[in-house]
Amino acid sequence: MRGLTYKYEDGTMALRDVDLSIERGEKVAIVGPNGAGKSTLLNLVAGFRMPFSGRVLIEGRELNHENADELRSEVGLVFQDPEDQIFMPTVEEDVAFGPRNLGLDDIDARVTRALRSAGIEGLAKRRPHRLSYGMKKRVAIAGILAMEPEMLLLDEPTSGLDPRARLELVKLLREMDKTMLIATHDLEAAAEIVDRAVVLNVSVVMEGTMSDIVMSKKVLQDAGLELPPVSKLFDAMGRMGYPVDSLPVSMDQAVAELTRVIDREAKRTSELRGPGNPRSDRKSRQSDARGNGD
Ligand SMILES: Nc1ncnc2c1ncn2[C@@H]1O[C@H](COP(=O)(O)OP(=O)(O)OP(=O)(O)O)[C@@H](O)[C@H]1O
Ligand SMILES: [Mg+2]
Repeated sequence: MRGLTYKYEDGTMALRDVDLSIERGEKVAIVGPNGAGKSTLLNLVAGFRMPFSGRVLIEGRELNHENADELRSEVGLVFQDPEDQIFMPTVEEDVAFGPRNLGLDDIDARVTRALRSAGIEGLAKRRPHRLSYGMKKRVAIAGILAMEPEMLLLDEPTSGLDPRARLELVKLLREMDKTMLIATHDLEAAAEIVDRAVVLNVSVVMEGTMSDIVMSKKVLQDAGLELPPVSKLFDAMGRMGYPVDSLPVSMDQAVAELTRVIDREAKRTSELRGPGNPRSDRKSRQSDARGNGD
């Protein structure tokens, strides 16, 4: 994206001068508050809307009205609301719609693979409109996977999912070997899936790892984003004097950082105690406070 700017017909400036590069195979999250322009950005990259000014380049080719349909087989957008995407009478027909429309071959094999990847093989004959919201989300994802695009654009993929479904989707996306651009408020899920994140608020506010982003309190505050609970916990531990070096965002990162904190703390404590100073660690201070010595 080069100088990407978008203004809606009513004058709303949704994106201003966005420069952003995504390498092949990279997974990037776009985080930002409601109305930040995340969905608008994904729609522009998918060629559903054309820029007011600036450009979207896919493998060096500028996206325009003429090539948008052709590039759509390379870039697949999963909409924020699955109702906007699902319209065929059965799940399998719905998932087959995209590849059929693009004139791709091996439709049945593609549908089978996509249903399996989305974990909904058992729903092939069901009527999508009767499914739960989380299941509809998976049908929408399968519909895009069936086109086997190079790049997946996902708009709030975890919203409305129950904890188990959310975890499964996070695992699916983490393990999927594709270029991804994911718009989300779910910082924790983003931390588990992506390599890099971008804070968007009409313009790009910051780029970095999810950990860099949660450490930038002002950026989060200005962008109206909340620290995930696990980051808040480590932030509090840091303020209490524990040797916290980075703020974890996901549970995996928290376990890794906690292990490092314990090691650092043990090392620091043994250095403090030294050979002739046996009572200067936290434990003996606590014992002193209780007044019962060692
Ligand atoms: N069709 C439209 N016509 C006019 N303004 C629009 C339209 N769609 C979005 N907007 C405006 O553009 C801005 C960006 O909206 P967008 O949907 O891209 O934000 P978002 O970051 O995806 O928000 P959310 O987190 O709520 O999904 C908002 O101010 C929104 O009101
Ligand atoms: Mg949106």
